[in-house]
Amino acid sequence: MPQIRALRRVASLLTTPLAPEDFIRLVNPLASTRQLRGIVTKVTRETADSTTIAFRPGKGWNAHAAGQWARIGVEINGVRQWRSYSLSAAAGHDPAITVTAIGFVSTALARDTKVGDVLFLDTPQGDFVLPVHPRPLLMLTAGSGLTPVMSMIRTLVPRRQDADVVLIHSARSPEEALFHDELLELADQFPGLTVRHWYTRAGGAKAGTDAFNREPRRLNLTDTTDLESMCPDWRDRAAYACGPAEFLDAASELWERDGDDAGHANLTIERFAAVLLPGTGGEGGIVTFEKSDKEVEVDGDVPLLDAGEDCGVVMPSGCRMGICRSCLIPLVAGKVRDLRTGEVHGEEGELIQTCVNAAAGPVHLDI
Ligand SMILES: Cc1cc2nc3c(=O)[nH]c(=O)nc-3n(C[C@H](O)[C@H](O)[C@H](O)COP(=O)(O)OP(=O)(O)OC[C@H]3O[C@@H](n4cnc5c(N)ncnc54)[C@H](O)[C@@H]3O)c2cc1C
Ligand code: FES
Repeated sequence: MPQIRALRRVASLLTTPLAPEDFIRLVNPLASTRQLRGIVTKVTRETADSTTIAFRPGKGWNAHAAGQWARIGVEINGVRQWRSYSLSAAAGHDPAITVTAIGFVSTALARDTKVGDVLFLDTPQGDFVLPVHPRPLLMLTAGSGLTPVMSMIRTLVPRRQDADVVLIHSARSPEEALFHDELLELADQFPGLTVRHWYTRAGGAKAGTDAFNREPRRLNLTDTTDLESMCPDWRDRAAYACGPAEFLDAASELWERDGDDAGHANLTIERFAAVLLPGTGGEGGIVTFEKSDKEVEVDGDVPLLDAGEDCGVVMPSGCRMGICRSCLIPLVAGKVRDLRTGEVHGEEGELIQTCVNAAAGPVHLDI
């Protein structure tokens, strides 16, 4: 509206050199016309390495469906870093993420976040969500892969009497199992939920039993023995799996090979990292980040996103696995290799997904 634009111009003149938004933000940190934000309302230590961060999002946030994820930005040493996190809270509740400290950003989030901190946000997305029509479900998770599934369980189990969910969760030990006590309480309270923990340090034995001290062993998904012992009717259930890459690859092969006729279609998978084709990296090259006036020589298997960040370029990013397209940067010259397929491509002006493409010879990027 012209009146609003005129008012903003007057406010800008009065507040220069800062924009009016900067003053509004001093009063309300969630108010920003440029970037969606959230304010941290609660921080809960879940395990030695994992922390749940609940936040109240500002205007522009869309309520999440159980199982979805969002891009979360956080300022570390003055640089805004973006990563993706599944929303662990039940749908219909204020959002929360549960972060396991494994690297640069996750460690800062899990260890340093305080109530009142401001997070930068993008709206929730993803199609790892509950089926539209109620069905018996099998949730197969390991480590931090429980997070999106926890949102599904919190959403479904207390609200639907007809819920029929079996959760098989693999963790190293009861102390390292996310949401351990809450899950056991939910299973006690609601007959629609069965929880089976697999503790790898105890070879899968149940905590508190004599067998608990047996040899360490991972849940074996190369055949159906372990699965059948914990969930005999697994073939009749819609299955959801989330966890480390090898765990998901094994699950995917098992459903393909030993599932019912629907096979693979019965299993929905959420990955936290891209599936790269082994051995795709070929010849690398010198990458020039033109606007940043930086140059670095990299091997052919290093994503351009990592190459830029390593030499101090502020690179846009999100999922870091080729799904959100937040990392697109125009190519000025050169060829790049898609690390998922091995395909070499690159035309001047082409938008390059820097998280899944590497240099194939000298590359110039418009950043
Ligand atoms: C859709 C989606 C949902 C996600 N949800 C969650 C979540 O709920 N909780 C959570 O803690 N993380 C989640 N992640 C992973 C998260 O986005 C970051 O990748 C993770 O926190 C590591 O970031 P970092 O900066 O700490 O590590 P970096 O310093 O960037 O890298 C550490 C290394 O660990 C690898 N890595 C990434 N994720 C994992 C993992 N889960 N296990 C082992 N290695 C990994 C990376 O590929 C990289 O090589 C999710 C990722 C995606 C794409
Ligand atoms: S960061 Fe999401 S596609 Fe590259």
